[in-house]
Formats: sequence, structure tokens, C-alpha cells
Amino acid sequence: MNQDLASEIRNKVDIVDIIGERIPLTAKGKNFFGVCPFHEDTNPSMSVSREKQIYRCFSCGASGNVFTFLMNYEHKNFKEVLKELGDKVGINTTSISIQKSSSQYDIFYDIYNFTQKYYQNNLNSVEGRDARKYLEERKIDEAVIKEFGIGLSLQVRDDLIKLLQKKKYDLMTLNKIGLAIDDHDVYSNRIMFPLYDTYGRIVAFSGRIYQNNSQNKYVNTKETVIFKKGSCLYHYHIAKDICRSEKSVIVMEGFMDVIRASTIGIRNTVALMGTALTDEQIKLLKRLSQHIILCLDGDFPGRHAAAAIGKTLMDEGIEVKIVTLPDPDDPDTYILKNGKDKFISLIEHAINYSDYKIELLKENINFQSEKDLSKYINSVLEETVKINDEIRVEIILKKLAKDYNIGYNTLEKRFQDLKEKKTAPKIKVEVEKTTRKDKYQLAMEQIIYFMLNSNNSWVIEEVEKENIIYPTNEERLITSEIIYYYKRNRQFQLADFFTYLQDKPNLLKLLNDIVSQNYIEQVDKKDLFTYFKVLRDYSKQKQILHLEEKIKKESNPDIQAEISEQIRKLKLGE
Ligand code: GTP
Ligand code: MN
Repeated sequence: MNQDLASEIRNKVDIVDIIGERIPLTAKGKNFFGVCPFHEDTNPSMSVSREKQIYRCFSCGASGNVFTFLMNYEHKNFKEVLKELGDKVGINTTSISIQKSSSQYDIFYDIYNFTQKYYQNNLNSVEGRDARKYLEERKIDEAVIKEFGIGLSLQVRDDLIKLLQKKKYDLMTLNKIGLAIDDHDVYSNRIMFPLYDTYGRIVAFSGRIYQNNSQNKYVNTKETVIFKKGSCLYHYHIAKDICRSEKSVIVMEGFMDVIRASTIGIRNTVALMGTALTDEQIKLLKRLSQHIILCLDGDFPGRHAAAAIGKTLMDEGIEVKIVTLPDPDDPDTYILKNGKDKFISLIEHAINYSDYKIELLKENINFQSEKDLSKYINSVLEETVKINDEIRVEIILKKLAKDYNIGYNTLEKRFQDLKEKKTAPKIKVEVEKTTRKDKYQLAMEQIIYFMLNSNNSWVIEEVEKENIIYPTNEERLITSEIIYYYKRNRQFQLADFFTYLQDKPNLLKLLNDIVSQNYIEQVDKKDLFTYFKVLRDYSKQKQILHLEEKIKKESNPDIQAEISEQIRKLKLGE
């Protein structure tokens, strides 16, 4: 690992400048404050310390050094960030090879890059005439073809394989990464759309038919070590830089929709590519923005997918808005028919999830039938219960009362009944979330917090001497990492320690948790020993509990007496 280089680079930059270039910071006392970009907020809950060269958010618990900030903020990996900062401050970073970081797959990325260029070349050849005509008819021009790397696989079924073999890639590898089946090409006579991973590397293709035939419209590369469908969102690698300034991400069904939107300058988009939304994709979406606009196809499946996906995202605490396109348009056809301004206006007027759901519930309801109407009203009320905005609830209830000529009080009462039922389990969840740390854990974390302060290196030595019984295994591990790190470097720099721990995610998480608390900064020996005593009491308590259990199981009265004597001694502190 590039520990020393990292520390050299980190010492040449100021975290206050780097973060300040990206989010506004205001000086207050020794520290700088800004709105934390890692959770939804408008308050300046993130503090940046010039002295310690770290940031921490008191609200979401994010913390780290300049590298972790950039990695999380710009969705880059450690080496990319290191190289960028190194270049910026004029430190030679040629020893960091970004490619090497995933060396075992490098060859796969090379093959895909080569293949994409080959496909793109085919499109410009004589054999590409019909495909070019197809694209032209679909209003995909030269610039778009370039931007999205679109190409063509030829009718012959082994040209690509032969070419790749000539370049010394063996058939087994080509089968493994989904470009060959036995000794022939996977794709033939299809328009080829490269699919990218979140870092922007080509990892697969989707091939579309372009002549009238009865084959599947699209064929995607099979799952491989570098391509997992469930963690793929089309256009993510581009959207990730744009969504931050746009403050929202638009989710579409197909990649043709995303491509079309880009032609009118809308690029904060991703496409699901015909799969159900996976947990992995939800995580990726959350990293883009807390505001998601669903703009799926206007047909029946699209409208219902919007409701289902919307619900999943709402449950994740994301703000969801929905655009309904006229049936049977998708964003692609809608934009082609109606143009840029109309589409932008649709996006601007996207309605929130609950209003959408209430509108959608009207489908297939016969409003002449009393039974249907009552079913409809009940399901609207059930939807309304989920809304946290009293004014909007009142508007909905008033509208229902007026539209269907039902007493407002009747609706209101039914609403309250439902609400009580609904909120009961929620309260329980909240209780669970706020489970407090016990005093032993607090003492332990306070001790660790002391150790993290570079002026307190004597604390590290005291902790090493003390025979601590750790409340949790993680606390034991992080303490020994601190001691080890200190001994090796003969000093302790918290900002570098973040880098040191980056391959140990559970310890890093604990570190984040401790750093973002308001623990005391400075100690004297007396204080420290008080905390040690709390921990000794803890281990004593544990021993006593253990012995009490033992007594219960023991039938021999002599041994019982012996154990209770041990307990008595422990309690007396002997
Ligand atoms: P066009 O017909 O070219 O405009 O495609 P589209 O973007 O309108 O696609 P559609 O709405 O039909 O489907 C949405 C997405 O589902 C596509 O972008 C594909 O990723 C995926 N998809 C559609 N058809 C198929 C298929 O036959 N096979 C596979 N594997 N995926 C498909
Ligand atoms: Mn389409």
C-alpha cells in the first residue's frame, strides 16, 4: 500500500481548501462548517478541521481525511484520488498504477475496449450501411453514435473471435467473459451498445436487432466476473458527476430513452434495462441523489412499475417524483414527437409519489358501482396515511369529500383510525434505533477518542500497559491497530490513520462513529484512570455474572460456597 506516499501527499494539501472548492465553508472558531454532502440536509452539520486535517458530520456520522472525502464525494477509488491530488501538488505518482488495482481483470477490460472499437468500425464499413440507415431513421446521429460508443456486429459469426485470437486472447477467456460461445461469436448482425460499470469501463454489450426478424429485440452479455446485471444502471458513470449539480436523478426504463434525453441536454439519467430494481441498484441510486424522478414508459406495465418502484424507493427514505407519459410513449418517442421544452416541462411538473398512487388507484374503478367506489376511497385513505404533511392530507380528504359527496368527518374519522393502526409499529422501530450505548462502551469510546488525538500519545502507551477487557471485539481490534500504528510511525496522525484503516471497513465504521461524537478532547492521567476503572468494573460485573450462572448449575454445596466467596471478594474489590 502507498501509505507513505499518501501521507506525503496529504501533508501537501489542505483539507479546508479541497472541501471548500466543492462546498461552501464558513469559519467558526478553530473549525470550518458546511452542509454535509453525504446526507440530506440544509444545516451546516459538517465540520472541517485545519489542525487535524479531518472532516466529520455530527448528523450522519461521516468522517475521514481528504482522501475519503474525495472518494465518497466523487465516487472514485483510493488510487484515483491519490493520483489526482499528487498531480495537483506536484508529487510524482507514477508508482501508483490505477490499472494495477484490478490487475486480474485488466485483460478483460482490454478485450472489451478493443471489441467496442472494432464494432464501431464495422458501423462505418460497407456492411454497416443498413444499420447506419436504421440509426438515421431513429434520429441517432453521428455525434450520438460517438458519445455512446454505438457499433455493429457483423453477420459472419466468427470475425471478432478470430481477430481477438490473433491478438493472443484465448478462446476460453473469450467464452468466460461472454464474447464467444464455443468457437463462434455471441453477437451477429446487431447494433451494439456498450454497457459500462460505475467507473466507466466497458464490461458488456447489449445488441439490438435492426432488421425485421423474430429474434429477441435485445441480447445482453451474460453475467461475468466483471458484469453483474443487478448492479448495473445504464449511464451511471456519466450521471454520477451530473446528478450532484442537478440535485436529482431521472430513472428511465430503456437505454434508448437515456440516449434520447441526452440529445436534448438532459444527462442526469440512468436506465434500469428491463430488470426489477435490485438492492444494489437502490444503493447506487442513493449515492447519486436523494431526489429521484421516475420517468418510465407510459404503457400499463410502465405505470405500474412506477408505483412499485416508487414504493420501494420511498421505503428507503428517498423522495420520489413520478412523470406519467401518454400511453404508449416512452421518453424516447415522447421527445421525438414533442420536443425538448415539452419534455422538460413534464419533468418539472413531476408529481409526488402519493398523488401518483392515488391517481393510479382510479384505474379499473367503476365509479357507478358503490362497492368499487368504497374500495377506491379506502385505498386512497390507506395511501394518505403514509403522507407526513397535514396540509396535503387535508387537501386530499376535502377533495375526496367533494368529488364523491361523502361527509368530511366520516373520511377524517376513518383516516384517524387507519393512522393509529399504521403508526403503532413505527414507534417501536424508533425505540430500537435509539438504543443507547451503555456506560462501559461510552468509557471505551472515550478512551479511544483520547488515543486519536495526536497530543495524547502518552495515552496510547498507558492503554498498552493497562490490561483492558474490551466491551466488544471491534473495540479491541481498533485499539490494537492504534497501538501498532503508533509504534510503527512513532507518532499518531488521525488523518493518516483513516487511510491506514481503509481496507478494514468494520473498523473504519467504528472509527467514523467515534470521531463524529462529541467526546472530550484532552485528558490528564487522573481522568484516564477513572475511565480505566469503569472498564475494570465492567469486567468485574462480567465475572460476577459468570460466577452466578455457575452457582446456579452447581449442585455440590462445598463448591457453591467456594464460588460465592469468589463473588464476595470480587464485589469487595479484592
Ligand atoms: P427500443 O425499442 O430500441 O426503443 O428500446 P427501448 O429502450 O424502448 O426498450 P424497451 O422499453 O422495450 O425495454 C427497456 C429495456 O429493457 C431496454 O433498454 C433493454 O435493456 C431491455 N430489453 C428490452 N427488450 C429486451 C429483450 O428482448 N431482451 C433483453 N435482455 N432485454 C430487453
Ligand atoms: Mn423505445
